[in-house]
Amino acid sequence: MLIKNIKELFQVESTPRADILRGTEMAELPSLKNAWVWVENERIKDFGTMENCPVVAGETIDATDKMVLPTWCDSHTHLVFAGSREGEFVDRIKRLTYEEIARRGGGILNSAKRLQATSEEDLLEQSYQRLQEVIGYGTGLIEIKSGYGLTVESELKILRTIQKLKKLSPIEIKSTFLGAHAIPLAYKNNRAAYIQLIIEEMLPKIAEENLADYIDVFCEKVAFSVAETERIIEAGLKYGLKPKIHTNQFNCMGGIQASVKHGAISVDHLEVVNEEEIECLKNSNTIATLLPSAPFFINDHYPPARKLIDAGLGVALATDFNPGSTPSGRMPFVLSLACIKLRMTPEEAINAATINGAAALELRHDYGSIGIGKIANILITKKIPSLGYLPYSFGSDLVEEVILKGQKIV
Ligand code: NIG
Ligand code: FE
Repeated sequence: MLIKNIKELFQVESTPRADILRGTEMAELPSLKNAWVWVENERIKDFGTMENCPVVAGETIDATDKMVLPTWCDSHTHLVFAGSREGEFVDRIKRLTYEEIARRGGGILNSAKRLQATSEEDLLEQSYQRLQEVIGYGTGLIEIKSGYGLTVESELKILRTIQKLKKLSPIEIKSTFLGAHAIPLAYKNNRAAYIQLIIEEMLPKIAEENLADYIDVFCEKVAFSVAETERIIEAGLKYGLKPKIHTNQFNCMGGIQASVKHGAISVDHLEVVNEEEIECLKNSNTIATLLPSAPFFINDHYPPARKLIDAGLGVALATDFNPGSTPSGRMPFVLSLACIKLRMTPEEAINAATINGAAALELRHDYGSIGIGKIANILITKKIPSLGYLPYSFGSDLVEEVILKGQKIV
């Protein structure tokens, strides 16, 4: 397949860039004007400018006036969930906070109840629909977490569903075990017993069936303490699951330091971050993954992206698609929020949503850029005047075509 006459081809990697783009590196987005990309089988064979466009047997796509980018790498979602929670949405309009709803047994526990009552077939059907939807927004690599099961059986149900999605869909998927998302009601007065269930029953079964790539914990006052988080991370590491941790959504409690200490691939949310935590991240390879559609939806404050990038850190952007704090898997909207609310430039936002997103899933070698030998995951936009038009026209659907592993999907 040849895509030609591309108005501008972004995120080209003619010479290798850093594995994680940090600080000022995030401002650079290499591009070629009037370009072509040659795809053979599932990989990018070559790319260049129209003066030396090859003649290729097979399909040709004319991208006159259109932009081409690598597909989005959404490194944080909870896409396998059952039903919805618009009742809590209305409660928040009436001034209850997200944390208050969680304390009343709503929130994650509400979704867990629904999921436990949903069959694996139904869960797969709902989740597959969502996956199809996000591919349409231009996502080509995604992470999906468990965490709405909270029993051995239901956590396995989610992880097995993710496993089936991996087989059914052309999108690349990484899977994360988040049994430590909330303390189930039955363990309200015996937290230690639930943590023991995670460590002694859930983890061994997950490892045996090879159902997860990462371990996650919701480290927060309404969820798990730093000490509990560390215990669970250490147990996960014993099974080869590296940590990607929910932390600093509402409180600075030391979750970043604990995650970095255990070599976390990423720390996610970071709506609140202090100087000490920024220093700690600076001396690490842990990526700061920001999820701006969560604070948008629950009306909270946004993560200090400018401060993090200006301190020289590597920032990734992801959707956090879930039924409670972010019922949306729309990466283009996340990019708009990053520009409008986090004051990231379009170039920084695109780097955060491609290269750094791929790095946050340890797939940087195959995904996140247009480079020779990379997996051909390519997004073709509709006719647009410039790159800035993408985040500027928030809410518009500007994705014309999505190519995953060399195949036209949308
Ligand atoms: O990333 N913060 C923890 N977990 C999810 C939301 C959970 C829910 O409300 O269902 C998040 O925002
Ligand atoms: Fe999340």
